[in-house]
Amino acid sequence: MSVVGETDDAPALPGSAIASGINDLESLMHKPIRKAVLPVAGLGTRFLPATKAVPKEMLTIVDRPIVQYVVDEARAAGIEHIVFVTGRNKTVIADHFDRAYELEDTLKSRHKDEALELLDKIRPAAGSTSFTRQQDPLGLGHAIWCARDIIGPEPFAVLLPDVIIKSDVSCLKQMVDLYDQIGGNIIAVEEVPEDQTHKYGIVELGAEINARASRITNMVEKPAPGTAPSNLMITGRYILQPDVFDLLSRHETGAGGEIQLTDSMLALMASQSFASIRFEGKSYDCGSKAGFLIANIAYALDDQDLAGELLPLLHDVLD
Ligand code: G1P
Repeated sequence: MSVVGETDDAPALPGSAIASGINDLESLMHKPIRKAVLPVAGLGTRFLPATKAVPKEMLTIVDRPIVQYVVDEARAAGIEHIVFVTGRNKTVIADHFDRAYELEDTLKSRHKDEALELLDKIRPAAGSTSFTRQQDPLGLGHAIWCARDIIGPEPFAVLLPDVIIKSDVSCLKQMVDLYDQIGGNIIAVEEVPEDQTHKYGIVELGAEINARASRITNMVEKPAPGTAPSNLMITGRYILQPDVFDLLSRHETGAGGEIQLTDSMLALMASQSFASIRFEGKSYDCGSKAGFLIANIAYALDDQDLAGELLPLLHDVLD
């Protein structure tokens, strides 16, 4: 992706970095994005009773748990270390990314090489995951703040596992490519119908960077109906500078009485640049039943053999 059409009036572009202070200079060094935070502490009440004993992130899309899709997206973007911010009853997520000795031993004795290879492929390298707990459900901003010590003083990615994104190039990879060119903070956005804006974080755009990317001039979490500055929602993929942790540590509450990530990003915008990217791909909100079900169908139809079996059955249901 090439950066074209950068304009002089865009905030905190390289030329204005000195005026914007040391924080921008740091971001201009384009430290690589090595770590990602996945907040997985949510209760999943919308999917009860399925989520009574099984975390919502472990619900299955075709044959992989939701969280696996998000981890795969992160790894395809070059992420080396994933920090899971968990809660009670989430240990099965750690088990999923660990070795399963008994299962592997049985598979080996039965010469199930393909299955063994699959398990090998999805298992992150030893030492490349961390798990920390969000002890109180105080909001997304608080969940991200819980990862501060593990992330340390480097830029990082955030992927919200409620959302999975089907694309040729990993959505986070598209963001990392943009970051490599412009640095700063990057947020994936997409259009939503006007009457849905109150459910999301909404951004307002300024100068265009290229056909898919623009500077962000404002953002608001869950604006009251009719007050949204645009119909561009924050999709749940972020590249952030570590300075956001200082702002999150204020523990100020916002929409819904929760500590909101959007509020700290807005505060950070006073000293650092934020850019949006309209990624290529389709997002599925697996936090909603309809989104979860349609994701299952979309991914199943991607598999030629499965699609062959499924399509006539779908027609049967619809007729
Ligand atoms: C969170 C973010 C919001 C974003 C949304 C995407 O909200 O706070 O800005 O648009 O995820 O799914 P939540 O869904 O946790 O209410």
